[in-house]
Amino acid sequence: MSLQIDAVLGLQWGDEGKGKVVDKFAKGYQAVARFQGGPNAGHTLYHQGQKVVLHQIPSGVFHEQIDLIIGDGAVIDPEVLWKEAEGLTRLGINLRERLWIGTGAHLILPIHKWLEEVSETSQKIGTTRRGIGPAYADRYARRGIPIDWIEEKDFYEKVENLHRLYAQHYSHLSPPSPLSEEFQAGIQLLRSLRKVDLPSGLYRYERILAEGSQGTMLDIFAGTYPYVTSSHTTIAGVLAGLKVSPQAIGKVYGVSKVYTTRVGEGPFPTEIHGDLAAWLQEKGQERGSTTGRLRRCGWLDLVALRYAIQINGVSALILTKADVLIGLREVLVRTGGTDSQPTYTAFPGWQSLSDPAFYTFVRWIERELAVPVSAISTGPEREAWVSLTSRS
Ligand code: IMP
Repeated sequence: MSLQIDAVLGLQWGDEGKGKVVDKFAKGYQAVARFQGGPNAGHTLYHQGQKVVLHQIPSGVFHEQIDLIIGDGAVIDPEVLWKEAEGLTRLGINLRERLWIGTGAHLILPIHKWLEEVSETSQKIGTTRRGIGPAYADRYARRGIPIDWIEEKDFYEKVENLHRLYAQHYSHLSPPSPLSEEFQAGIQLLRSLRKVDLPSGLYRYERILAEGSQGTMLDIFAGTYPYVTSSHTTIAGVLAGLKVSPQAIGKVYGVSKVYTTRVGEGPFPTEIHGDLAAWLQEKGQERGSTTGRLRRCGWLDLVALRYAIQINGVSALILTKADVLIGLREVLVRTGGTDSQPTYTAFPGWQSLSDPAFYTFVRWIERELAVPVSAISTGPEREAWVSLTSRS
Protein backbone atom coordinates (compact mmCIF):
# COMPACT_ATOMS: atom_id res chain seq x y z
CA MET A 1 0.00 0.00 0.00
CA SER A 2 1.18 3.49 -0.66
CA LEU A 3 1.60 6.19 1.91
CA GLN A 4 -1.39 8.38 2.78
CA ILE A 5 -0.95 11.54 4.78
CA ASP A 6 -4.01 13.16 6.34
CA ALA A 7 -3.65 16.59 7.86
CA VAL A 8 -5.15 18.47 10.80
CA LEU A 9 -4.86 22.19 10.09
CA GLY A 10 -5.94 25.31 11.96
CA LEU A 11 -8.23 27.55 9.91
CA GLN A 12 -8.03 30.63 12.14
CA TRP A 13 -5.23 32.36 14.08
CA GLY A 14 -4.16 29.25 15.98
CA ASP A 15 -5.50 27.81 19.25
CA GLU A 16 -8.40 26.11 17.46
CA GLY A 17 -7.93 22.95 19.54
CA LYS A 18 -5.80 20.96 17.07
CA GLY A 19 -3.92 19.14 19.84
CA LYS A 20 -7.05 17.44 21.06
CA VAL A 21 -8.17 16.59 17.53
CA VAL A 22 -4.80 14.97 16.79
CA ASP A 23 -4.93 13.04 20.07
CA LYS A 24 -8.44 11.89 19.19
CA PHE A 25 -7.55 10.78 15.66
CA ALA A 26 -4.06 9.41 16.33
CA LYS A 27 -5.01 5.80 16.91
CA GLY A 28 -5.94 5.44 13.25
CA TYR A 29 -2.35 6.23 12.19
CA GLN A 30 1.15 4.79 12.56
CA ALA A 31 2.81 8.16 13.05
CA VAL A 32 1.98 11.77 13.85
CA ALA A 33 4.23 14.35 12.21
CA ARG A 34 4.77 18.03 12.96
CA PHE A 35 5.75 19.71 9.70
CA GLN A 36 6.40 23.35 10.66
CA GLY A 37 6.79 25.75 13.54
CA GLY A 38 8.48 25.16 16.85
CA PRO A 39 7.85 25.83 20.53
CA ASN A 40 5.63 28.78 19.67
CA ALA A 41 2.94 26.09 19.56
CA GLY A 42 1.16 25.09 22.74
CA HIS A 43 -1.01 22.04 22.20
CA THR A 44 -3.04 21.31 25.30
CA LEU A 45 -4.03 17.74 26.11
CA TYR A 46 -5.61 16.11 29.12
CA HIS A 47 -3.98 12.81 30.07
CA GLN A 48 -5.33 10.80 32.99
CA GLY A 49 -6.96 13.93 34.34
CA GLN A 50 -3.77 15.97 34.09
CA LYS A 51 -3.29 18.97 31.80
CA VAL A 52 -0.23 18.61 29.56
CA VAL A 53 0.93 21.35 27.18
CA LEU A 54 3.15 20.20 24.33
CA HIS A 55 5.34 22.69 22.51
CA GLN A 56 7.65 20.63 20.33
CA ILE A 57 6.53 17.03 20.55
CA PRO A 58 3.61 15.87 18.38
CA SER A 59 0.25 15.40 20.08
CA GLY A 60 0.09 11.64 19.40
CA VAL A 61 2.42 11.16 22.36
CA PHE A 62 -0.12 9.43 24.59
CA HIS A 63 -0.68 6.58 22.13
CA GLU A 64 2.24 4.27 22.83
CA GLN A 65 2.17 2.41 19.53
CA ILE A 66 2.47 5.59 17.46
CA ASP A 67 5.71 7.09 16.18
CA LEU A 68 6.28 10.82 16.51
CA ILE A 69 8.08 12.79 13.83
CA ILE A 70 9.37 16.35 13.91
CA GLY A 71 9.69 17.09 10.20
CA ASP A 72 12.20 19.14 8.23
CA GLY A 73 9.96 22.21 8.05
CA ALA A 74 10.13 22.62 11.83
CA VAL A 75 12.54 24.55 14.04
CA ILE A 76 13.68 22.96 17.29
CA ASP A 77 14.76 24.58 20.52
CA PRO A 78 16.98 21.94 22.18
CA GLU A 79 16.37 23.42 25.65
CA VAL A 80 12.59 23.23 25.28
CA LEU A 81 12.77 19.74 23.81
CA TRP A 82 14.92 18.58 26.70
CA LYS A 83 12.54 20.00 29.33
CA GLU A 84 9.51 18.61 27.54
CA ALA A 85 11.07 15.17 27.24
CA GLU A 86 11.92 15.23 30.98
CA GLY A 87 8.31 16.14 31.83
CA LEU A 88 6.96 13.30 29.68
CA THR A 89 9.44 10.83 31.19
CA ARG A 90 8.02 11.76 34.61
CA LEU A 91 4.59 10.81 33.24
CA GLY A 92 6.01 7.43 32.26
CA ILE A 93 6.31 8.19 28.53
CA ASN A 94 9.44 6.84 26.88
CA LEU A 95 10.30 8.79 23.74
CA ARG A 96 13.58 7.10 22.81
CA GLU A 97 12.06 4.43 20.58
CA ARG A 98 9.31 6.58 19.14
CA LEU A 99 10.51 10.12 18.49
CA TRP A 100 12.16 10.75 15.11
CA ILE A 101 13.82 14.04 14.29
CA GLY A 102 14.03 15.16 10.66
CA THR A 103 17.66 15.75 9.74
CA GLY A 104 16.64 18.88 7.83
CA ALA A 105 14.83 20.61 10.74
CA HIS A 106 16.70 23.66 11.99
CA LEU A 107 17.93 24.65 15.43
CA ILE A 108 16.76 27.60 17.46
CA LEU A 109 19.86 28.95 19.20
CA PRO A 110 19.99 31.05 22.39
CA ILE A 111 20.88 34.07 20.23
CA HIS A 112 17.66 33.66 18.21
CA LYS A 113 15.54 34.02 21.35
CA TRP A 114 17.55 37.02 22.42
CA LEU A 115 17.26 38.63 18.96
CA GLU A 116 13.51 38.31 19.16
CA GLU A 117 13.43 40.13 22.49
CA VAL A 118 15.40 42.95 20.87
CA SER A 119 13.29 43.15 17.71
CA GLU A 120 9.98 43.01 19.59
CA THR A 121 10.86 46.32 21.25
CA SER A 122 11.18 48.03 17.83
CA GLN A 123 8.70 46.16 15.59
CA LYS A 124 5.84 44.85 17.71
CA ILE A 125 4.26 41.69 16.27
CA GLY A 126 3.38 40.22 19.64
CA THR A 127 5.39 37.05 18.97
CA THR A 128 5.70 34.24 21.47
CA ARG A 129 9.39 35.25 21.93
CA ARG A 130 10.59 31.72 21.31
CA GLY A 131 13.08 32.73 18.62
CA ILE A 132 10.95 31.36 15.80
CA GLY A 133 11.29 34.32 13.40
CA PRO A 134 15.08 34.73 13.78
CA ALA A 135 15.66 30.96 13.38
CA TYR A 136 13.62 30.88 10.15
CA ALA A 137 15.31 34.11 8.98
CA ASP A 138 18.73 32.43 9.31
CA ARG A 139 17.40 29.35 7.57
CA TYR A 140 16.26 31.41 4.59
CA ALA A 141 19.45 33.48 4.65
CA ARG A 142 21.24 30.11 4.29
CA ARG A 143 23.26 30.41 7.44
CA GLY A 144 21.00 28.41 9.78
CA ILE A 145 21.99 25.17 11.49
CA PRO A 146 20.20 21.98 10.46
CA ILE A 147 19.91 18.98 12.77
CA ASP A 148 22.26 16.80 10.75
CA TRP A 149 25.15 19.14 11.61
CA ILE A 150 24.97 18.33 15.31
CA GLU A 151 27.11 15.21 14.82
CA GLU A 152 29.89 17.10 13.07
CA LYS A 153 33.15 17.80 14.85
CA ASP A 154 32.96 21.54 14.30
CA PHE A 155 29.27 21.80 15.29
CA TYR A 156 29.86 24.09 18.31
CA GLU A 157 32.23 26.21 16.23
CA LYS A 158 29.45 26.72 13.69
CA VAL A 159 27.07 27.75 16.47
CA GLU A 160 29.65 30.19 17.80
CA ASN A 161 30.30 31.64 14.34
CA LEU A 162 26.62 32.36 13.79
CA HIS A 163 26.37 33.76 17.30
CA ARG A 164 29.37 36.04 16.69
CA LEU A 165 27.72 37.55 13.63
CA TYR A 166 24.98 39.00 15.84
CA ALA A 167 27.03 39.50 19.00
CA GLN A 168 29.38 41.85 17.15
CA HIS A 169 26.51 43.81 15.66
CA TYR A 170 24.73 44.14 19.00
CA SER A 171 27.81 44.31 21.26
CA HIS A 172 26.35 47.42 22.99
CA LEU A 173 23.35 45.34 24.22
CA SER A 174 25.23 42.46 25.92
CA PRO A 175 23.94 39.38 24.09
CA PRO A 176 23.82 36.05 25.96
CA SER A 177 26.58 33.47 25.91
CA PRO A 178 26.41 31.19 22.83
CA LEU A 179 26.53 27.87 24.68
CA SER A 180 24.49 27.80 27.86
CA GLU A 181 24.41 24.63 29.96
CA GLU A 182 20.77 24.05 29.04
CA PHE A 183 21.53 24.41 25.35
CA GLN A 184 24.31 21.83 25.56
CA ALA A 185 22.11 19.45 27.54
CA GLY A 186 19.50 19.82 24.80
CA ILE A 187 22.09 19.06 22.13
CA GLN A 188 23.12 15.94 24.08
CA LEU A 189 19.50 14.81 24.08
CA LEU A 190 19.12 15.56 20.38
CA ARG A 191 22.24 13.54 19.62
CA SER A 192 20.77 10.57 21.45
CA LEU A 193 17.43 10.66 19.62
CA ARG A 194 16.64 8.85 16.38
CA LYS A 195 16.96 10.81 13.16
CA VAL A 196 14.94 10.39 10.01
CA ASP A 197 15.77 11.38 6.44
CA LEU A 198 12.73 12.73 4.66
CA PRO A 199 10.95 11.70 2.62
CA SER A 200 12.47 8.18 2.41
CA GLY A 201 11.95 7.56 6.14
CA LEU A 202 8.21 8.08 5.74
CA TYR A 203 7.65 5.20 3.35
CA ARG A 204 7.83 2.59 6.09
CA TYR A 205 4.40 3.89 7.18
CA GLU A 206 1.08 3.61 5.39
CA ARG A 207 -0.82 6.27 7.26
CA ILE A 208 0.60 9.42 8.79
CA LEU A 209 -1.32 12.24 10.46
CA ALA A 210 0.28 15.63 9.82
CA GLU A 211 -0.24 17.97 12.78
CA GLY A 212 -0.40 21.68 12.00
CA SER A 213 0.62 24.36 14.45
CA GLN A 214 -0.74 27.90 14.55
CA GLY A 215 -3.40 28.54 11.88
CA THR A 216 -3.96 29.54 8.26
CA MET A 217 -4.34 33.23 9.10
CA LEU A 218 -0.85 33.14 10.67
CA ASP A 219 0.79 31.58 7.57
CA ILE A 220 3.82 33.56 6.39
CA PHE A 221 2.38 33.87 2.85
CA ALA A 222 -1.37 33.42 3.27
CA GLY A 223 -1.88 35.11 6.64
CA THR A 224 -2.36 38.68 7.86
CA TYR A 225 1.22 39.77 7.12
CA PRO A 226 3.27 41.08 8.91
CA TYR A 227 1.26 39.84 11.91
CA VAL A 228 2.00 36.22 11.15
CA THR A 229 4.36 33.47 12.17
CA SER A 230 7.40 32.62 10.04
CA SER A 231 6.38 29.28 8.56
CA HIS A 232 3.77 27.73 6.28
CA THR A 233 0.88 26.65 8.46
CA THR A 234 -1.22 25.58 5.46
CA ILE A 235 -1.31 22.40 3.35
CA ALA A 236 1.65 23.81 1.40
CA GLY A 237 3.63 23.46 4.65
CA VAL A 238 2.82 19.75 4.81
CA LEU A 239 4.25 19.20 1.33
CA ALA A 240 7.37 21.29 1.92
CA GLY A 241 7.96 20.34 5.55
CA LEU A 242 7.63 16.58 5.08
CA LYS A 243 8.90 16.63 1.46
CA VAL A 244 5.95 14.75 0.03
CA SER A 245 3.97 15.12 -3.17
CA PRO A 246 0.35 16.31 -3.36
CA GLN A 247 -0.64 12.76 -4.35
CA ALA A 248 0.27 11.57 -0.85
CA ILE A 249 -2.33 13.85 0.73
CA GLY A 250 -5.59 12.19 1.75
CA LYS A 251 -8.06 13.93 4.04
CA VAL A 252 -7.58 17.51 5.12
CA TYR A 253 -9.33 18.22 8.41
CA GLY A 254 -9.81 21.93 9.05
CA VAL A 255 -10.26 22.92 12.69
CA SER A 256 -12.18 26.03 13.73
CA LYS A 257 -13.69 27.29 16.95
CA VAL A 258 -17.34 28.35 16.74
CA TYR A 259 -16.01 31.82 17.51
CA THR A 260 -12.57 33.34 16.88
CA THR A 261 -9.53 34.17 18.98
CA ARG A 262 -6.21 35.77 18.24
CA VAL A 263 -3.09 36.28 20.36
CA GLY A 264 -0.70 39.10 19.61
CA GLU A 265 -1.06 42.10 17.35
CA GLY A 266 -2.76 42.38 13.96
CA PRO A 267 -6.14 42.88 12.30
CA PHE A 268 -9.17 41.09 13.72
CA PRO A 269 -12.36 42.17 11.90
CA THR A 270 -14.84 40.40 14.21
CA GLU A 271 -13.17 41.31 17.50
CA ILE A 272 -15.47 41.87 20.49
CA HIS A 273 -14.62 44.23 23.33
CA GLY A 274 -16.02 44.82 26.79
CA ASP A 275 -18.05 42.48 28.98
CA LEU A 276 -18.80 39.88 26.32
CA ALA A 277 -15.10 39.55 25.45
CA ALA A 278 -14.24 39.16 29.13
CA TRP A 279 -16.99 36.52 29.49
CA LEU A 280 -15.59 34.55 26.52
CA GLN A 281 -12.03 34.80 27.85
CA GLU A 282 -13.17 33.51 31.20
CA LYS A 283 -15.55 30.80 30.03
CA GLY A 284 -13.34 29.62 27.17
CA GLN A 285 -10.15 29.90 29.26
CA GLU A 286 -8.76 31.98 26.45
CA ARG A 287 -5.24 32.45 27.66
CA GLY A 288 -2.19 31.54 25.51
CA SER A 289 -0.84 28.05 26.32
CA THR A 290 2.72 29.16 25.56
CA THR A 291 2.85 32.73 26.82
CA GLY A 292 -0.09 32.99 29.24
CA ARG A 293 -1.35 36.10 27.42
CA LEU A 294 -5.12 36.69 27.28
CA ARG A 295 -6.44 35.90 23.82
CA ARG A 296 -8.47 38.51 21.95
CA CYS A 297 -11.96 37.14 21.24
CA GLY A 298 -14.47 37.71 18.44
CA TRP A 299 -17.31 36.20 16.44
CA LEU A 300 -16.85 33.47 13.86
CA ASP A 301 -15.67 34.98 10.57
CA LEU A 302 -17.10 33.04 7.64
CA VAL A 303 -15.30 35.21 5.10
CA ALA A 304 -11.92 34.25 6.59
CA LEU A 305 -13.02 30.65 7.04
CA ARG A 306 -14.05 30.32 3.40
CA TYR A 307 -10.63 31.62 2.37
CA ALA A 308 -8.85 29.15 4.67
CA ILE A 309 -10.93 26.24 3.37
CA GLN A 310 -10.13 27.15 -0.21
CA ILE A 311 -6.38 27.46 0.34
CA ASN A 312 -6.10 24.17 2.20
CA GLY A 313 -8.58 22.10 0.20
CA VAL A 314 -10.37 21.18 3.43
CA SER A 315 -12.39 17.98 3.09
CA ALA A 316 -14.04 18.01 6.52
CA LEU A 317 -14.53 20.59 9.24
CA ILE A 318 -14.13 20.06 12.96
CA LEU A 319 -15.80 22.66 15.13
CA THR A 320 -14.46 23.20 18.63
CA LYS A 321 -15.49 24.97 21.82
CA ALA A 322 -19.19 24.71 21.01
CA ASP A 323 -19.81 24.44 24.77
CA VAL A 324 -18.34 27.88 25.46
CA LEU A 325 -21.15 29.74 23.70
CA ILE A 326 -23.88 27.94 25.69
CA GLY A 327 -26.11 30.48 27.38
CA LEU A 328 -25.82 33.34 24.89
CA ARG A 329 -29.14 34.76 23.69
CA GLU A 330 -27.73 35.49 20.25
CA VAL A 331 -24.70 34.31 18.30
CA LEU A 332 -23.30 36.41 15.45
CA VAL A 333 -21.35 35.20 12.43
CA ARG A 334 -19.60 37.48 9.98
CA THR A 335 -20.96 36.76 6.53
CA GLY A 336 -19.82 39.73 4.48
CA GLY A 337 -18.75 43.37 4.36
CA THR A 338 -15.19 44.58 4.46
CA ASP A 339 -12.57 43.88 7.12
CA SER A 340 -13.15 47.36 8.52
CA GLN A 341 -16.95 47.15 8.22
CA PRO A 342 -17.95 43.52 8.57
CA THR A 343 -21.60 42.52 8.30
CA TYR A 344 -23.16 39.78 10.40
CA THR A 345 -25.91 37.18 10.39
CA ALA A 346 -27.55 36.61 13.79
CA PHE A 347 -28.58 33.20 15.15
CA PRO A 348 -30.56 32.29 18.24
CA GLY A 349 -28.11 31.08 20.89
CA TRP A 350 -28.16 27.54 22.27
CA GLN A 351 -28.85 26.64 25.89
CA SER A 352 -27.27 23.18 25.71
CA LEU A 353 -25.58 21.13 23.03
CA SER A 354 -28.71 19.13 22.42
CA ASP A 355 -30.63 22.35 21.73
CA PRO A 356 -31.92 22.20 18.12
CA ALA A 357 -30.67 25.80 17.70
CA PHE A 358 -27.11 24.49 17.83
CA TYR A 359 -27.64 21.92 15.10
CA THR A 360 -29.43 24.49 12.94
CA PHE A 361 -26.28 26.58 13.30
CA VAL A 362 -23.99 23.66 12.38
CA ARG A 363 -26.03 22.72 9.33
CA TRP A 364 -26.11 26.31 8.19
CA ILE A 365 -22.29 26.47 8.39
CA GLU A 366 -22.00 23.28 6.34
CA ARG A 367 -24.29 24.69 3.68
CA GLU A 368 -22.59 28.06 3.55
CA LEU A 369 -19.11 26.60 3.32
CA ALA A 370 -20.02 23.52 1.27
CA VAL A 371 -17.89 21.33 3.56
CA PRO A 372 -19.25 18.67 5.94
CA VAL A 373 -18.75 19.08 9.68
CA SER A 374 -17.36 15.68 10.71
CA ALA A 375 -17.00 16.25 14.46
CA ILE A 376 -17.71 18.73 17.21
CA SER A 377 -15.54 19.14 20.27
CA THR A 378 -17.64 20.01 23.30
CA GLY A 379 -15.04 20.40 26.05
CA PRO A 380 -11.36 19.91 26.83
CA GLU A 381 -11.47 16.20 27.76
CA ARG A 382 -10.97 13.45 25.16
CA GLU A 383 -14.56 12.21 25.72
CA ALA A 384 -16.16 15.59 25.08
CA TRP A 385 -16.71 14.91 21.41
CA VAL A 386 -19.60 14.35 19.02
CA SER A 387 -18.70 12.41 15.91
CA LEU A 388 -20.77 13.05 12.80
CA THR A 389 -18.83 10.51 10.76
CA SER A 390 -21.48 9.88 8.17
CA ARG A 391 -20.77 13.39 6.94
CA SER A 392 -16.96 13.17 6.64
P1 IMP B 1 5.80 33.70 16.52
O1 IMP B 1 5.24 32.48 15.88
O2 IMP B 1 6.28 33.47 17.92
O3 IMP B 1 6.82 34.36 15.65
O4 IMP B 1 4.61 34.77 16.67
C1 IMP B 1 3.98 35.39 15.54
C2 IMP B 1 2.49 35.54 15.74
O5 IMP B 1 1.91 34.22 15.77
C3 IMP B 1 2.08 36.17 17.08
O6 IMP B 1 0.90 36.90 16.87
C4 IMP B 1 1.80 34.99 17.99
O7 IMP B 1 0.90 35.31 19.03
C5 IMP B 1 1.19 34.04 16.98
N1 IMP B 1 1.35 32.63 17.37
C6 IMP B 1 2.45 31.87 17.28
N2 IMP B 1 2.21 30.62 17.71
C7 IMP B 1 0.92 30.59 18.06
C8 IMP B 1 0.05 29.55 18.55
O8 IMP B 1 0.44 28.38 18.74
N3 IMP B 1 -1.24 29.93 18.80
C9 IMP B 1 -1.70 31.18 18.56
N4 IMP B 1 -0.95 32.16 18.10
C10 IMP B 1 0.35 31.87 17.85
